[in-house]
Amino acid sequence: MAGTGITICGMGSYLPDNFVDNNAYAQIVDTSDEWIRPRTGIVTRPIANGETTWRMGAAAGRRALERAGVDPKEVDLILVTSVTPDFLTPSMSCVIQQELGCPDAMCIDANCACTGFVYGLDMARRYLYSGDVDTVLLISTEMLSRITNYADRSTCVLFGDGAGAAVVRRGEGLYGAHLGADGTGYGLMFCRLPLPASPFTHNPPQPDEIYGRPEPDEQLVMAGHEVYKFAVKAMPQAVEKACAKAGLAPSELKWVVPHQANIRIIQTAMKNLGLPMEQAWVSIDHTGNMSSATIPIALDEMVQAGALQRGDKVVMVGFGAGLTYGAAVIEW
Ligand code: UT7
Repeated sequence: MAGTGITICGMGSYLPDNFVDNNAYAQIVDTSDEWIRPRTGIVTRPIANGETTWRMGAAAGRRALERAGVDPKEVDLILVTSVTPDFLTPSMSCVIQQELGCPDAMCIDANCACTGFVYGLDMARRYLYSGDVDTVLLISTEMLSRITNYADRSTCVLFGDGAGAAVVRRGEGLYGAHLGADGTGYGLMFCRLPLPASPFTHNPPQPDEIYGRPEPDEQLVMAGHEVYKFAVKAMPQAVEKACAKAGLAPSELKWVVPHQANIRIIQTAMKNLGLPMEQAWVSIDHTGNMSSATIPIALDEMVQAGALQRGDKVVMVGFGAGLTYGAAVIEW
């Protein structure tokens, strides 16, 4: 498989230092640490306190470049994934390009929800093997607090803010990915922009009904239990298919780096894969769910903890709104 893989040359992340524990949520909605901790695995999570989404992404990207020893001028492509951008236009990748000083980089933002980093890694690899891209800066940055409904106890306790980044180049090791989506589940998790209302709009659209109520503007709505059921099936299936494409059995994996949405989802997915929980990296206790940023933040923690050795087979696996899902196996 020589010459088809990717190398992650450096990882970086950024977490706001404003950590909010479960007891603080009990002050604003009818919940408790006793409910949140066993049901989700979350103990505390960082919430932005002055940061913006692109600034967190730039900070993570700068750290990844420094650790990789790569000059920002060498970056050919900046790929940013997010569901919580600061602007509809321009893309955050353009804003980050000028901040980091990557004048020759083309800039793309992609929205693949919580599966964004996995989709982004696969897109990066395709650009890297297209011939004229040698260095990709992949950044997943999210400010879920921007779209969270803090009156809804079933969602507000889940989310945090942060960013993770990777410098990606072609590599020698094996690679396999399986990505997909089931758009029939789009209504299970969404956040709608305000409806159009120009001076020339005489017949404005009305919000659709969702769960018997009009869709709200700019607030995340989720049918948690339905997404849960989707996730525990989609995650192991995606891992198995990605492994098959890499010519690997799941038992040969050293690490599973799952999307950090719920500890029970991770436990069930690992059980269905026949792998022990010790092989899953868990950071949800102190990050909460940061959509596409959770996987690169977890990966960065693993690097900083010295958990990854050259040659380790690692799978990253996510699921989220869309409904999207995907897994990518790499050799570290
Ligand atoms: O990145 C992908 C994003 N989405 C997800 O990953 C979501 C996946 N889903 C989940 O993680 C879980 O479904 C949740 C953690 C969101 C909810 O857990 P659950 O075990 O599926 O609970 P439920 O929604 O079935 O609710 C059970 C009960 C309900 O009360 P009743 O109707 O039985 O009286 C809820 O109202 O728990 C109640 N509840 C809460 N109680 C205290 C829901 N949220 C809370 C809360 N505190 N924060």
